[in-house]
Parts: sequence; C-alpha cells; structure tokens
Amino acid sequence: MLRRWLLTSTLLWYLFAGVIGDVNLDRRDDNLPARVPYVFPPPPGTDPIADAIRARRNGTLLDLDGVLLNAPLFAQAHSNLFGVVRSNNTLPPAMRELIILRVVVLNSTTYEWLQHEPIARMAGLTTEQLLAIRLAPPLFASQGVNLTSILGPDLAAAMTFTDWVTEKIRVPDDIFDALRPFLNDMQLIEDRGGI
Ligand SMILES: *[C@@H]1O[C@H](CO)[C@@H](O)[C@H](O)[C@H]1NC(C)=O
Ligand SMILES: *[C@@H]1O[C@H](CO)[C@@H](O)[C@H](O)[C@H]1NC(C)=O
Ligand SMILES: *[C@@H]1O[C@H](CO)[C@@H](O)[C@H](O)[C@H]1NC(C)=O
Ligand SMILES: *[C@@H]1O[C@H](CO)[C@@H](O)[C@H](O)[C@H]1NC(C)=O
Repeated sequence: MLRRWLLTSTLLWYLFAGVIGDVNLDRRDDNLPARVPYVFPPPPGTDPIADAIRARRNGTLLDLDGVLLNAPLFAQAHSNLFGVVRSNNTLPPAMRELIILRVVVLNSTTYEWLQHEPIARMAGLTTEQLLAIRLAPPLFASQGVNLTSILGPDLAAAMTFTDWVTEKIRVPDDIFDALRPFLNDMQLIEDRGGI
C-alpha cells in the first residue's frame, strides 16, 4: 500500500513538475546563482569572521557563506546560530536532519537539500525515509497518509509537527502532545532551530 503510494507520488511529482515548470522558473529555486556577488575573502588569516565560519565548516566556505559575507555581522550571527543547531544540541541526529530536510521540501530549497542529504544519511535516515520526507504532501497526516511504519513513531511525530509549524505556524495540542513523549523540554526548544 505504502509502496504503491510512494510510486504514485513519484509519478505525480514528475507530472506536477512538468505541468508547473514555467511557474517554478519564476519561483527561483535557490540552486540558481545568487543575485548578489559572492564574497570570498582572501586566504585564511585575513578576515576573522570568515575564519570562524571556515573553522565551523572544517576549512571550506560554501556558496551560502559567500552570499552572507556581503553582510559580515549577519554572516557571523548566522554561523553562530546554525553552529548550535548543527553541533550543540541534544536532538537525535536523525530527527534533527528530518526536520531540516522537511522544511527544505516544504520551501523548495534544493540547495539546502543537496547540502543536507549526505548528513541525513550519516545520521541514519534511509533512502525510503528520505523519499517519504521528499514526497509526502504537506500536512500528510491530515490527508490520511500514515508514515509510522517507514519513519517510526518518533520521526513521524516530528515530521507532523514540522509540517504544522511551517504551514500553519500555530500547532494544535494533539500534534504537540504526539511529539512530547520523545523529547525533553530542552529538545522541544532545540527542535525549533531546524524549523
Ligand atoms: C567536520 O569534521 C568532523 C570530523 O571529521 C565531523 O564530525 C563534522 O561533522 C565535520 N563538520 C562539517 C560541518 O562537515
Ligand atoms: C559545540 O560543539 C562543538 C563541536 O562539537 C564543540 O567543540 C563545542 O565545545 C560545543 N560548545 C558547547 C558550548 O558545548
Ligand atoms: C499508523 O500506522 C501505525 C502502524 O504502522 C498504527 O499503529 C497507527 O495507529 C496508525 N495511525 C493512524 C492515525 O492510523
Ligand atoms: C515556507 O513554506 C511555508 C508554507 O508553504 C510558507 O508559509 C513560507 O512563507 C515559506 N517560507 C519561505 C521563506 O519560502
């Protein structure tokens, strides 16, 4: 049943992408080049903010950093926040990556999917789970799509929660209560970092 649903969804996805192709061009998927110059400062040791970002990223600046460095203090704050989101939280890594990738899907940000898919796989998400994250319709649970057997109850609850925060902002109590058993108070704050 679920396999059939995934296959159908995949076909629908391609169909949909074909039908709305022109519209999508207007939406400017963010894997296109940026509309501001990329600022890649000279070698390490010349710009403390760029150096701090390099240190966080194991020595390499991403295109994203080149864009953010047009506003150095913003780049610094962004790096500090996302350093904490990525490295200094206690969420289960698979749940952290699921949340990030699901927001990516709901907001069509291909660039970030490409950055995070390998990290998600390292965190243990399988291809089948990645397909579910990629293809399930927004607010899937309200549409009768049950992903518990693919994701497990914890990740399914986290994805339902992510969909509500992203799509509706206000999260009903039952959606929050379904996630609550899997996270402590600290983690319930930390999960918002990915959203
Ligand atoms: C940097 O390298 C360490 C050790 O190999 C790894 O655990 C970490 O995830 C890497 N960080 C990034 C942002 O790639
Ligand atoms: C945050 O995570 C990094 C990388 O794991 C670690 O080096 C650093 O000590 C952590 N900072 C805090 C305040 O826990
Ligand atoms: C979803 O499926 C699981 C079994 O995989 C089941 O335990 C659960 O009750 C189902 N949820 C709903 C809302 O049907
Ligand atoms: C992300 O998607 C949600 C739901 O469709 C939408 O309300 C929000 O404006 C989007 N955010 C961005 C930055 O595109």
